Amino acid sequence: MGTGLNILLTFLHSDKNSKIYYHALEPYPLGASFQKKLNYCQFLNVDEEILKKIHVSAWNKKIKLNEKFILCKEKTKIENFMSKEFFDLIYFDAFAPSKQKNIWDFKIIKYCYDILNKDGIIVTYSSSGDFKRNLKKIGFEISVLKGALGKREMIRAKKI
Ligand SMILES: C[S@@+](CC[C@H](N)C(=O)[O-])C[C@H]1O[C@@H](n2cnc3c(N)ncnc32)[C@H](O)[C@@H]1O
Repeated sequence: MGTGLNILLTFLHSDKNSKIYYHALEPYPLGASFQKKLNYCQFLNVDEEILKKIHVSAWNKKIKLNEKFILCKEKTKIENFMSKEFFDLIYFDAFAPSKQKNIWDFKIIKYCYDILNKDGIIVTYSSSGDFKRNLKKIGFEISVLKGALGKREMIRAKKI
């Protein structure tokens, strides 16, 4: 979950005719003073109340950002996450492998595969060789995309 930016962007760009269920993990939530300093809404065409709702809403509860968009935040580590759902898309937005190696290991990536629907997608900005090899071994089809914000490449991998 982090600062809630991925949630906010997904909310903004989601097809208004589709229902979205978004499950966000965060073991170390931002403090209230940091949350108040977030100024995304000045740059994105979105009501401040949405970002506020993302941050102040209760944990482990399904809350409605609007009629079509349900958010559930879970205060847990991915290592301990036991999903009750299957997903179409995973934003694998962990800190870099050099900073948090354990999150990028085979077991976690395999778990992501297991909780994706067929044709489900995992996206991430890391394109380390080990990570790509693990994705392939597990059964993902990999596309290398042009990176952004100083990253040369990003990875989009599909469960086939
Ligand atoms: C690069 S930031 C994600 C930023 C986020 N996408 C956003 O929109 O702000 C990585 C996040 O992973 C969280 N994190 C750290 N260890 C984790 C773990 N074991 N499982 C799940 N999340 C973790 C951090 O607290 C941090 O918020």
